[in-house]
Amino acid sequence: MPPVEIKPNIHWIGVNDRTTDLFEGLWPITQEGVSYNAYLINDEKKAIVDLAKALKTDEFFDQLDHVIDISQLDYVIVNHMEPDHSGILRTLLRIAPQVTILGTEKTRDMLDSFYGIREGVRVVQDGETLSLGQHELTFVYTPFVHWPETMMTYESSEQILFSCDAFGSYGALRGAIFDDDCTSQAFYTQQALRYYVNIVSVFSKPVLKAIEKLADVPVSIIAPSHGLIWRKSPERIIELYKKWAEYANEPGEIGITMLYGSMYGNTEKMMNAVAHGISQEGVPLDIFDVTHTHVSYMMPALWTQRGIVVGAPTYEGSLFPPMAEVLNMAKYKRIRNKSVARFGSYGWSGGAQRHFENLIEPLQWNLTDSFEFVGSPSDAELEQGEKFGAEFARLIKESP
Ligand SMILES: Cc1cc2nc3c(=O)[nH]c(=O)nc-3n(C[C@H](O)[C@H](O)[C@H](O)COP(=O)(O)O)c2cc1C
Ligand SMILES: [Fe+2]
Ligand SMILES: [Fe+2]
Repeated sequence: MPPVEIKPNIHWIGVNDRTTDLFEGLWPITQEGVSYNAYLINDEKKAIVDLAKALKTDEFFDQLDHVIDISQLDYVIVNHMEPDHSGILRTLLRIAPQVTILGTEKTRDMLDSFYGIREGVRVVQDGETLSLGQHELTFVYTPFVHWPETMMTYESSEQILFSCDAFGSYGALRGAIFDDDCTSQAFYTQQALRYYVNIVSVFSKPVLKAIEKLADVPVSIIAPSHGLIWRKSPERIIELYKKWAEYANEPGEIGITMLYGSMYGNTEKMMNAVAHGISQEGVPLDIFDVTHTHVSYMMPALWTQRGIVVGAPTYEGSLFPPMAEVLNMAKYKRIRNKSVARFGSYGWSGGAQRHFENLIEPLQWNLTDSFEFVGSPSDAELEQGEKFGAEFARLIKESP
């Protein structure tokens, strides 16, 4: 995409990535893509805020050439060292060795350990300002949103917050880069939530701290490193992030996430009966087959909904492995404060239930009910499953 002037002399020069399959080598973005947003401020002094992953470097430097001669570039502001932001830095330094890199103290150390860069680095302090001429930048330390070295950069004349990973989302830009000219808002909101739970949720406390720190700063535009730029309703993405961050310490919304896995269909039969019981109670229900769906797509439901039902059989004396993996990821992502119920089939001596209880112990989920059956469920057992679903749904509906 060509550069886009977001305010006079402030340009988006981002890169759209539709070829990476797994963000961070882990989270699927094959279909959705992602953008690495970089920004160029063309003033008496010229600065780039954030860079991009080391891909499509030609396109990145072409965008820059559209606006300035790279030999005139004064500063590169490294808000964050993760290579989806900084990957292009070494190439840039080869072309523009005159630039001064600005970042936090931790960034200075990481520039050395990640890229062997020791020269041309200047540490900026929390709250320090830098005048570029007509534009003044303020650096705001926001540790652990996403890494310990992370900061945001605030431009005061246009009130633009270059917020780095905060307020970002998956989803390559579809021609439109602003919230108000984007016709796929629902897509980006959904992808912002998936991105939040996959990437940021572990750092919910630092997110709330950062939002509080910036509460008195007038913000007209939120310009994150990934996804849409919010200029019509910057408060909307801030409110969403705040709500999601608060879910770290709350059970979440009334709703149930059903996770199930089944080798030969016995547990799946029961899953349909349980789902029927839940839906009879009118409680929102998401269903995921853990074998066929990437855990990335389950995380938003698990994070936001207060009820979880696990349907999985016994496998070699333990819980069906794909289910154990999902519960393990829930542990990584610190999904807490949930109520859970489990069902599953077994063939002879079982073992899944004990393994399941061990797995959820560190999650501190409240196990409300469980039942198992041998082989294929009988009609009476299916009826029991329906009641089990309805009871759990009522409990979720009525929970404070
Ligand atoms: C590879 C494999 C390993 C199994 N290991 C056990 C086991 O250790 N203990 C047990 O009671 N049943 C075991 N079973 C039996 C299953 O739990 C049983 O067939 C159950 O009905 C499968 O449910 P599903 O059709 O939902 O996959 C195993 C089945 C398979 C295919
Ligand atoms: Fe990051
Ligand atoms: Fe990032």
